[in-house]
Amino acid sequence: MLRRELAAIAALTLVSSGAAAQDTVKIGLILPMTGQQASTGKQIDAAVKLYQARNGTTVAGKKVEVILKDDTGVADVAKRLAQELVVNDKVAVLAGFGLTPIALAVAPIATQAKVPEIVMAAGTSSITEASPYVARTSFTLAQSSVPMAEWAYKNGIKKVVTLVSDYGPGIDAEKSFSDKFKADGGTIAENLRIPLRTPDFAPVLQKVADAKPDALFVFVPSGTGAQFVKQFVERGLDKSGVKLIATGDVTDDDQLNGMGDVVLGVINAHNYSADHDSALNKAYVDAFKKANGGLRPNFMSVGGYDGMNLIYEALKKTNGSTDGDKLMAAIKGTAWESPRGPISIDPDTRDIVQNIYIRKVDKVGGELYNVEFATIPNVKDPVKAAKK
Ligand code: DHB
Repeated sequence: MLRRELAAIAALTLVSSGAAAQDTVKIGLILPMTGQQASTGKQIDAAVKLYQARNGTTVAGKKVEVILKDDTGVADVAKRLAQELVVNDKVAVLAGFGLTPIALAVAPIATQAKVPEIVMAAGTSSITEASPYVARTSFTLAQSSVPMAEWAYKNGIKKVVTLVSDYGPGIDAEKSFSDKFKADGGTIAENLRIPLRTPDFAPVLQKVADAKPDALFVFVPSGTGAQFVKQFVERGLDKSGVKLIATGDVTDDDQLNGMGDVVLGVINAHNYSADHDSALNKAYVDAFKKANGGLRPNFMSVGGYDGMNLIYEALKKTNGSTDGDKLMAAIKGTAWESPRGPISIDPDTRDIVQNIYIRKVDKVGGELYNVEFATIPNVKDPVKAAKK
């Protein structure tokens, strides 16, 4: 960051302490509303609006105003927007972050301005280490990949090829799955990666066919799963005897119903299914669909919904103070029931602790859903747990 920009933020941090007395708390919500990751932006924006519709726009005597900005999925754009939100709009909290590079690009601004950065979508483990002002309500890829590896080996899968998007969360998924699967006694025949932007699966799918593994383990980000499945079928891999296993990012509720019966039976691990069996979730899904023309909420939506709850709960604890250090102290250790199940913010790492569910794609009422059949409770990010 330019020295001049830092000085501007530093100066305005001093000025903004006067803003604590004001009656409005502003949240800068930075999301990819257009571009390849637009479904993530749409889901989180809808969830944030739903949260305020159901819980009101006032907390601890303060009016909560959300300022939505479209980062188009580009880190430099997000960084500029974050600076403007801090300096011009004097937001008390930055939130959103649909992709890892965006969450990482904004972290130095959060640190400098002492403004909490609530990560509602991105999933690379290291993001929470990029600033002491980061807290996460989404997930890490290791959280789902390690249980997926454990399930696979226990269920007769001995040889796997991995296929991931070639950036932070994909590399975390590849490493955490492979390390666990090998430690349990399995063989990784190949680790394949494809570019995040304009992914072409054809060349890697040929390699999968040649390697003839028992299973193919896949991570691609939310919104890309349908494209992958289409090519998997076009290459005839659905009929080759290679089982498809995945993180739940692939069998994304946002797209699952359109993928067709080829995904029936696909086993995957994740933190949220629209089919999750709880009264809280049923009410959430109904309200979300009603407010959004029938759109089914996905795992990104709960990251946004829970992120808003975290901000509201923190403001209650600080009695409405927007001091960044007080908000971060209030965030640590907060626990509540989410539509996904019980969750909390680890006070040591500021990362989310949540159940991971093993699911099978099945038909429920004529529609495709990820049907949960096993639960691994209270999973902490395995990457950070291994460092201790
Ligand atoms: C990230 C983005 C996704 O859409 C997803 O499903 C998982 C991780 C990320 O960029 O961190």
